[in-house]
Amino acid sequence: MAHLEQRYPNLHVSSHPLVAHKLTLLRDKGTAPKQFRELVRELSWLIGYEAMADLTTRPMGVETPLEVMEGAELEPRVGLVPVLRAGLGMVDAMLELMPTSQVWHIGLYRDERTLKPVEYYNKLPDAATVQVCLILDPMLATGGSSAATVDILKAWGAARIKQVSLIAAPEGIATLSEAHPDVDIHVCAVDRALNDRGYIEPGLGDAGDRQFGTFAGPGSEPGHPSDETAEIVRRLQRTLAVD
Ligand code: PRP
Ligand code: URA
Repeated sequence: MAHLEQRYPNLHVSSHPLVAHKLTLLRDKGTAPKQFRELVRELSWLIGYEAMADLTTRPMGVETPLEVMEGAELEPRVGLVPVLRAGLGMVDAMLELMPTSQVWHIGLYRDERTLKPVEYYNKLPDAATVQVCLILDPMLATGGSSAATVDILKAWGAARIKQVSLIAAPEGIATLSEAHPDVDIHVCAVDRALNDRGYIEPGLGDAGDRQFGTFAGPGSEPGHPSDETAEIVRRLQRTLAVD
């Protein structure tokens, strides 16, 4: 993936051994929803910590039992933006790291046939109430959901936006980076490619279903492409020429 990181300097892929270990457990098809949720939470904590490494601080005085010293406090107001549903599992970990964050939910689902995001929930107030937004979504596949969320947040007035995901496809990184090169992307891993249904391979399957135990049967599982969806993925791959 070094070539992707060279091509897109906004891309940051974790190299932490704990991340690699936990992500492997998360991918395992035998991992049941309870452990899957625990792993999503632990990985969110780890990748969230890395994603916040460049947040600014300002001096803050503190009195220890021994003396007064100059400490630091986080400067920007931070908004966590989980993309429903799958992003919900990342919120608690991030709130543990930054308990004063605001949480603004965005409801998007990906149309199974067209792979385009469909917005169904957005209660953002008129003007931005935070300076830094962290978009939380475990999967960055075609990049359509993420790019749409960034559009929403930029229109809202967010000054700085970061995408925090567990697994990304090269196609999604290219789509998001080309539409929004100013958005940092923090991921645990970049996988090989999208399949004909727009699922990340090797990936982990459907992150929402695996967290919430909502498996609707064989027809809903990755691996049953319609011709139209497969052609949409091929067109995306040709356009982006990701190698
Ligand atoms: C998944 C995932 C992302 C989106 C990624 O959500 O959580 O939001 O797909 O795909 P994209 O990069 O191609 O847009 P999904 O639409 O399955 O909704 P859910 O979380 O409610 O199950
Ligand atoms: N959404 C998921 O949950 N998994 C994928 O592989 C792609 C989109």
